Amino acid sequence: MSEQHLHAFDDAQALATALSASIAGKLREAIDARGEAVIAVSGGSTPKRLFEALSNEVLDWSRVTVTLVDERWVPDTDERSNARLVESLLLQRKAADAEFVPLYVEAATPEAGIGEVRATVAGLKQPFDVIVLGMGPDGHTASFFPGGDRLSEALDPSNTALVLPMRAPGAGEPRITFTLPVLLKARTLYLHIQGSDKREVLAEAEKPGSKLPIASVLGAKRPLEIYWCP
Ligand code: 6PG
Repeated sequence: MSEQHLHAFDDAQALATALSASIAGKLREAIDARGEAVIAVSGGSTPKRLFEALSNEVLDWSRVTVTLVDERWVPDTDERSNARLVESLLLQRKAADAEFVPLYVEAATPEAGIGEVRATVAGLKQPFDVIVLGMGPDGHTASFFPGGDRLSEALDPSNTALVLPMRAPGAGEPRITFTLPVLLKARTLYLHIQGSDKREVLAEAEKPGSKLPIASVLGAKRPLEIYWCP
């Protein structure tokens, strides 16, 4: 079981303000210690307020590299692109100087583009300083979807691949995702979730023997900062 710290808030705005301040503190620490910081964020609907709050944090964003935990295989002109979300909400205002490393390249499928993405992400300094995970109602995190075609590889603790393509019935389009070993190495790992339904999914995933993908994160021997609001 990970060493979990639950941070509960009354509403999404209070959560976003607190999580943003905590992340900004970690990025400043990284810049002070190593001269640069790397953060990987999730897409979906939950992080919108967080991205806006983070984009207003005062820190040396020119030393920050932002990437994604996972991406839907669509160009950033598509409404479902996580890159588009990050570009329009996070890489703005004070954070406009941050460097962004996308996980999508122009190729027909993630399988065809994976080599190029691997080469790009290999240039990112590991461990990442900050990773912000989300979770779907089906217990997926990153693109670790139940029934995913590469799920066992993505969750394999001994897998040295940084990224993998992923296809799953519940995923919509094909995806690309960082693997579990990369996520678990992060200096600070956050799980950002909203809604009582997701709190129930979390409780379900904590039961011994749970097959929900998020259980692989909850069961890892490392600290996990869970930010939640109803
Ligand atoms: C994605 C995400 C994914 C997300 C969850 C939660 O591209 O979909 O990175 O892992 O965190 O699906 O999404 P919601 O915030 O929309 O519920």
